[in-house]
Amino acid sequence: MMNPDVIVLGAGAAGLMAAATAGQNGARVLVLDHGPEPGRKILISGGGRCNFTHLETGPNCFISQNRHFARSALARYTPQDFLKLVNRYGIAWHEKARGQLFCDGSAGQIVDMLVSECRTVGCELRMQTRILDVRQAEHGFIVVTDGGEIRAGAVILATGGLSIPKLGASDLSLRLARKFGLRVVPPAPALVPLVLADADPELAGVSLPIVARVGKKGPRFEDGMVFTHRGVSGPAILQISSYLEAGDAAQIDLLPGQNALNVLLKVKKDRPKALPPSLLEALPQRLARVLAAGLGDTMLANQSDRAIKALAERVSNWQLRPAGTEGYAKAEVMRGGIDTRDLSSQTLGARDVPGLYAIGEAVDVTGWLGGHNFQWAWASGVAAGQAA
Ligand code: FDA
Repeated sequence: MMNPDVIVLGAGAAGLMAAATAGQNGARVLVLDHGPEPGRKILISGGGRCNFTHLETGPNCFISQNRHFARSALARYTPQDFLKLVNRYGIAWHEKARGQLFCDGSAGQIVDMLVSECRTVGCELRMQTRILDVRQAEHGFIVVTDGGEIRAGAVILATGGLSIPKLGASDLSLRLARKFGLRVVPPAPALVPLVLADADPELAGVSLPIVARVGKKGPRFEDGMVFTHRGVSGPAILQISSYLEAGDAAQIDLLPGQNALNVLLKVKKDRPKALPPSLLEALPQRLARVLAAGLGDTMLANQSDRAIKALAERVSNWQLRPAGTEGYAKAEVMRGGIDTRDLSSQTLGARDVPGLYAIGEAVDVTGWLGGHNFQWAWASGVAAGQAA
């Protein structure tokens, strides 16, 4: 392709969607990517089955300095729109947890579908291409690659976030955005396992349902937690990790839906001769033993109500203050990114740089676990693809 109208940087979820959309609108589109194949994060997503959308997505399911920013794109390209596309390709799917749609087969079907959508409208996908620079030119941009310079009227930044560097994640979109004068909200790993200073290796593998919160007014996630060798993980922990700043504590209820103090006092009354771990018989045994260790080997009849109250508080309101996270190597996404103040929420175009767009994870819009991040990739890709 000699003279594309649009160059998309990044053949991931958002980039492929933007390319197909721009192509459907008649644009000549070139997609550049340094990886060996398109959509590598899609391939490993959802345990290989790609949780490709969430039926109940909405701006509240995203973290951003501007919590209204995602509203417009999400409203114009909905989970039902993506589902129609999936159905048109005959891809079988199921709803795993409420609203979370997964492929029955493999995530590769989603990549094949997106690549087919691109090829149908004549987009060129050029893989294993190093992008060295992007410069503004008289009528658009010059993209400098290891294969030469290419001119285009519009450039869409779609190289994603920093998570999973071994899959080719890079900060290219953030660097280029800064170069063009756009602000960047400091990035950090999100949807990421947490590291605890006092992690107890004996608990590794123990899992249980919990409620996790950050502050009284913060969001609340009721889902699973699993202890790891270095700390904690599992869906409820990943969700809450996206909200924690350094030094913050999350509040964990290990007995969701129950009044811990009443539960413990009842066990004491019913079984006065039992030993302290019995107080926590509703929890996995290994965890009960660790939590009740402070009460020693004295039978329940001889335990003070004060000691039992303190244990109940620990169980229902555990202040989990992580020492850190497992970092980008284990994070599902990056939070932060290109500042939405410098982008149009309608087009994802840079306010002060005509022809420059930014979409997907590179933008400061980070979804909850459960298909929201892909829905943002599709919706922002469509918005920019229509406008570019
Ligand atoms: P994406 O990362 O998809 O694509 C970026 C592309 O840019 C890549 O092809 C990359 O090679 C390319 N690129 C990067 N730097 C470049 C450079 N310097 N030069 C050229 N090309 C470059 N979400 C969800 O909704 N449901 C799910 O089930 C999951 N599951 C999941 C599992 C795991 C293990 C991870 C790591 C992530 C998920 N996610 C998810 C998150 C989801 O994968 C992610 O939010 C989207 O892929 C983001 O789409 P983008 O197109 O923005 O980036």
